Amino acid sequence: MDRKIVGPSFTEVAAKYTGTDDAATSLAASIKNGGAGKWGAMAMPPMAGLSDAEALALAEYVLDQ
Ligand code: HEM
Repeated sequence: MDRKIVGPSFTEVAAKYTGTDDAATSLAASIKNGGAGKWGAMAMPPMAGLSDAEALALAEYVLDQ
């Protein structure tokens, strides 16, 4: 939750994006599609099996941390 392991901690992600436009939908897309280059050299693997609603629920959970 609050320390970096492979990817950034959820609290760091929440601090970076809370209050930005479309934070939840943008993070939902990052969670579903994976991502690279925003936090460091490691890439986030895609989780393509998630529905849009599941990805949005995860994004909202992360933003609450
Ligand atoms: C429930 C599972 C997970 C959730 C909800 C989650 C969520 C997130 C979020 C919201 C971000 C920020 C994306 C952005 O800035 O646009 C992120 C980044 C990242 N995650 Fe995850 N993640 C999960 C699992 C994983 C796993 C299993 C790995 C690796 C084994 C991983 C590695 C990374 C990395 C390396 C980044 C930074 C990517 C970059 O630099 O752009 N994540 N994750």
